[in-house]
Formats: sequence, structure tokens, C-alpha cells
Amino acid sequence: MSINQNSLSSAVHPRKILIANWKLHGSGSHVERWVQAVQTLEEIRSGQMQVILCPPAIWLERARGYVQGERLALGVQNVSAQSEGSFTGEISAAMAFEAGARYALVGHSERRRLFGETDQMVAAKVEQSAQAGLIPIVCIGETAEEKRAGQTEPVLARQLECLGALHGEPVSTLWIAYEPIWSIGTGIPAEAGNILAVAAFIRAHVASSDATMRNQFRLFYGGSVGAGNAAALGTLEGVDGFLVGGASVEADSMVALCRALV
Ligand code: 13P
Repeated sequence: MSINQNSLSSAVHPRKILIANWKLHGSGSHVERWVQAVQTLEEIRSGQMQVILCPPAIWLERARGYVQGERLALGVQNVSAQSEGSFTGEISAAMAFEAGARYALVGHSERRRLFGETDQMVAAKVEQSAQAGLIPIVCIGETAEEKRAGQTEPVLARQLECLGALHGEPVSTLWIAYEPIWSIGTGIPAEAGNILAVAAFIRAHVASSDATMRNQFRLFYGGSVGAGNAAALGTLEGVDGFLVGGASVEADSMVALCRALV
């Protein structure tokens, strides 16, 4: 398994990271316009922040052709739980790596809810990603119903069991994104206190299996983050950046978001 050093704590690396998850949006020409607009931003060129673009996988290679430098990296939105075989329509982690991805979203709530991904499949995808040299960005989060029932922590703890797929490798080889399902796409992010409490829980939970790991992985929040709330959310202790859906798709909106965050 490859160990990536791009994973120090926010205390060590104050730079904020924005992960743009386009979901099922975009086109080849849109990729070109977007990459050109974002990578020329002073906020990125100066190293104040980093952006990871996760377009539909079919545009990865094209995006790689436009990217210059290291401040704009590429991620894939999903990988297969298998490495190869008769699995029509699947894309393996190694294929995504070859196409230019260095990160992989794993276990996004839309994959879990709409495509039936189980915790076991998420664990297999974490393992596949790490073996291929991708940093898995594991997405976890509770439904509104689970939140109302006070089940947030047990649900997150269960979803974090996929870390076992790393077989004792340092947790710094993956990133974790907390995306409460009740916030995604609503325009209403979780409240700061809520995010802080959950971030502390996740760090403590990960540290309970390895005490040195509490601050040794990157932690993200996702759910209705946009230019209007990024500045306030960007100050939250222990949150290294944001996983953004809707506000990341249009270049103008992404540029405004980058400017608001720095
Ligand atoms: P929105 O930013 O549109 O709420 O989506 C969040 C998300 O699901 C990113 O992965």
C-alpha cells in the first residue's frame, strides 16, 4: 500500500482544501473553462489553498491535459470495489489513477442511498483506492431521522469501521468527509457548533484505535457550502476544508467560493 505524505494535520498545514464534486454535471468544454478559471486564481497559485476537482470519470484525462502545477489535483467520484474482472460499467481505482486521479471519493451518501453501497463495499473501495495509490476520501454522514433519534455518533462510528480495510496502515493515508445527508443540496449547512462537535467526535473515534492519529488525517465538511458561508465555516477548528457539490460546478461560483475562503 502506498503511503502518501500529503496528509498532515491542519495545525501543521493551515492551507484550506476545496474538493469540487461535480456529481453528474459537466462536459468536455466545461472542464477546460473551469480548470483554466480556477487554476489561474492567485489564491491557488500562491499556495493559500488547494483544489481537488472530481469531475465525471470520463473527463479525468481531459482535465489532466489542462492542469498545470500541483495546486489543482484530480479525484474520481467513485471506484469499483473490484480490481478487475467481469464487472460491466465499472472503473477500477488503478484505471482512475492512470487517468490522472490522485484522490477517490468513497461511500458518498448518494452512492450508499441510490446505488445500494454497503459498509462492506465502502471498505473494499477504501482498500482498492489505497492499493492503487489514490487517497480515499471517505464520506460519512447521518440522515435527518438518525439525527433526530440521537443516532449520529453510532452511525458515524459504524461507517468508520471501513478504516479497518487499511489493515493497520496509518489513517493519514485517507481523508474523511462529514456530509450530513439532511444538509446536502438544501442550501442550509449544518451549524458551526454541530460541525465542531462531530469533527471532535470523529477525531476522538479515530484516535481511539491509534492515539497518534487524532490530528494526522484531513477532515472535511460537506453540505450546502458556498461563497456565502465559506468564510465563516472556514474558521472552524479541526476542519481542513470542504467537499462541495452544487456551488462547485460553475466556474464563476467556484471562483467566488475560493475567494471567500481565503
Ligand atoms: P452540496 O454542496 O450541493 O450540498 O453537495 C454536497 C455534496 O454532496 C458534496 O459531495
